[in-house]
Amino acid sequence: MEKLSKPSQKDIQSVQSHDVLESLWNQEFATTYELKNLSESTLKYFSSLNNRLKKGILLDNGCGTARIKKFFEERGWTCFGSDITREGLKVASRLSPTNLIYAPAHDLPFKGDFFDAIIFWRVLHNITKKVRKKSVIEASRVLKKNGILVCCVQSKEDKDTYSKYKENGIELDDDPNTFVVNQVVGNKVMPYMKHFYSKNEIIKELEENTHLEVVRIKIIEEKSGFEAVGRKIQKYWIIEAIKQ
Ligand SMILES: C[S@@+](CC[C@H](N)C(=O)[O-])C[C@H]1O[C@@H](n2cnc3c(N)ncnc32)[C@H](O)[C@@H]1O
Repeated sequence: MEKLSKPSQKDIQSVQSHDVLESLWNQEFATTYELKNLSESTLKYFSSLNNRLKKGILLDNGCGTARIKKFFEERGWTCFGSDITREGLKVASRLSPTNLIYAPAHDLPFKGDFFDAIIFWRVLHNITKKVRKKSVIEASRVLKKNGILVCCVQSKEDKDTYSKYKENGIELDDDPNTFVVNQVVGNKVMPYMKHFYSKNEIIKELEENTHLEVVRIKIIEEKSGFEAVGRKIQKYWIIEAIKQ
């Protein structure tokens, strides 16, 4: 059986709704533990980030199983984790049980200027265009002045993955480089949406109408979380932005 397939119009509309997005991630976290361990490249990156930064309050925004929250907690940070998947938060409550909050990235229940660091790891590319921008503005709001936002998003330079999604998915009319595919998630076939970012686009998205300034951007190579792309290596942008 083909692991990726074309979605129907109904799938395309439904994947953009909050409920369907939430049930996709619930299914992922209820059936696989792929996102429990950090890859070698990510561990290396987070270790160097931890060494460069002064410890403070950190938000793992879209934390899933809270594998990243746990990493920083163990290194002396005060950590919070937020997400919209209840199954993910269940796993998280075993891995890193304190300060876990059910909240969407565009509406965080924190006062402004609260966090020293926000990690937004492999979340933004799964959100619809309108909500992506709102989520970045919200992250900028809750970040302290001189605080750091660290983002990881799917790169359009990952030609292999891009062509797989282009070939097997449907591109959204109002959001170029965003594809919806039907994909095996755990033991079900479900619609899944992914946006592929160019370098300029992610910089613009982070800086426009926020107080953020991008100070560093590079590519990281990591295994995919999903069955359909065969656990192969994918390329992501890592971007660091400082709140001015
Ligand atoms: C690929 S997983 C990454 C999880 C985690 N950041 C990590 O790297 O282990 C994507 C996560 O984003 C979460 N997510 C998707 N849309 C979200 C939104 N609008 N607000 C908050 N979390 C969201 C999903 O529930 C899922 O846990």
